[in-house]
Amino acid sequence: MSYKIMSAEEAASLFFNGANVGFSGFTAAGTPKIVPSAIAAMAEKLHNEGKEFKINVFTGASSGDMLDGALVRANAINFRAPYQSSKDLRNGINSGAVKYNDMHLSHLSQELRYGFYGKLDFAVVEAADVTPDGEILPTAGVGLAPTACMLADKIIIELNSTQPKELYGMHDIFIPANPPYRKELPIYKVSDRAGEKTIKVDPKKIVAIVESNEFTNVAKFTEVDATTAKIGQNVANFLANELKRGTVPPEFLPIQSGVGNVANAVLYSLGDNKDVPTFTMYTEVIQDAVIDLMEKGRISFASGCSLTTSTDVTKDIYSNLKFFGDKVLLRPIEISNNPEIIRRLGLITINTALEADIFGNVNSTHVLGTKMMNGIGGSGDFTRNAYISIFTCPSIQKGGLISPIVPMVSHCDHSEHSVKILITEQGIADLRGLDPLGRAKTIIENCVHPDYKQLMWDYLKLGGATHTPHSLKNAFAFHTAFAEKGDMRLTQYI
Ligand code: COA
Repeated sequence: MSYKIMSAEEAASLFFNGANVGFSGFTAAGTPKIVPSAIAAMAEKLHNEGKEFKINVFTGASSGDMLDGALVRANAINFRAPYQSSKDLRNGINSGAVKYNDMHLSHLSQELRYGFYGKLDFAVVEAADVTPDGEILPTAGVGLAPTACMLADKIIIELNSTQPKELYGMHDIFIPANPPYRKELPIYKVSDRAGEKTIKVDPKKIVAIVESNEFTNVAKFTEVDATTAKIGQNVANFLANELKRGTVPPEFLPIQSGVGNVANAVLYSLGDNKDVPTFTMYTEVIQDAVIDLMEKGRISFASGCSLTTSTDVTKDIYSNLKFFGDKVLLRPIEISNNPEIIRRLGLITINTALEADIFGNVNSTHVLGTKMMNGIGGSGDFTRNAYISIFTCPSIQKGGLISPIVPMVSHCDHSEHSVKILITEQGIADLRGLDPLGRAKTIIENCVHPDYKQLMWDYLKLGGATHTPHSLKNAFAFHTAFAEKGDMRLTQYI
């Protein structure tokens, strides 16, 4: 079949007010660029003419500025799920302009298939190639593209000439059947394939091919600072010790790590630690440190949902696909984050807390309990099902005005039942097998900054003799001190 080639503007004109749209990609990797930007431009034009135009945006996770940024600046997003990390979109969400459903990333594809969100009108997919019989070769991020293509009435392909066709073979596309017909996922080690190398669709559904030459530009991480480096070392030392005492098998277990500077520092510390054998990753985002450690022979295989590497590193990978091609697999988000696989493979998961409390509950999403930062992302998928779940955070933020460790989290994403280890630059709190008081003592002793320790010990006394010694009157005293006086150190209990 031959497809209709359209400009991005022509393709944008197909979209209508209230459309449900699934976009490929995960982070900026694999995310369509010129079609969403053209939809945003069309929305602005329609708004100027006094017409309504907003769409409902479903993605694998965060996207690029040409999608979330452009659409929200054009006031063209009605509903958004399941995750974002755009400053402009965050403002839109926190001002109430955008309805945001913050979700576990592994849930959205199946919930779309279950019909929870109505019909999907469009799938917009960045591709490196598409064959006349409807085989779509995704690029560096898969996200929910396979399910979006399966469900959507119409598919628009953004065919990106900067993405090599030699990516063929790097994807593992598998869509689980809906219950009650779902079977086990046949992944028993990180490198196992469950599905196909391309997304197969009915070619008649492909209504437009839009040619693009926009490269996916991702900034390099900033240099690791002393706090981040110390957190990384603490994680590596903790895991080396687990290996030594035999609670982690000698061949080690696959690692999942979140995104960002801390994750990068953790990976480098694991890579440098002589007691940690060469390891594998079963994770969401494959970032620069993974590629570097792969080149050094410290990581032997990485399975993820996206290759979100900085621009130069991506170019290096693309010119070296012979080396990386059999060491990387990119899968749909519901497979990269699948609870069944996470539990079976025994992942060691490492994610970042925005806030944690002395009893082991973690807030990953809400600044001071009310303002959305990014979203829960995959942290819940991994934490809840991990062999060992680790959370990291610095012991102070904003030069000491904020203690990320508080008496009671102002919003709870991961409960005390799922969080096994808390690590700051101060040290390691191993919460396994402890009662609430034991957890509180361990966290205060090992993780809390010295400026906040006495305040925490005082809080613990206020709760009296009970299973979880909270003082309901004072549980948010840290937060109210910050809101009223701008400094949590000025906390006063009543
Ligand atoms: N209270 C108020 N503000 C806080 C805070 C707290 N407890 N903790 C951090 N902040 C502020 C920081 O000061 C910083 O402010 P700035 O932007 O003005 O400098 C900002 O929040 C971000 O903090 P930072 O330490 O730079 O965070 P990060 O980039 O390491 O991200 C999360 C931390 C938790 C926001 C991020 O990891 C996230 O979104 N996690 C959820 C999703 C996830 O875990 N994904 C991976 C799963 S695979």
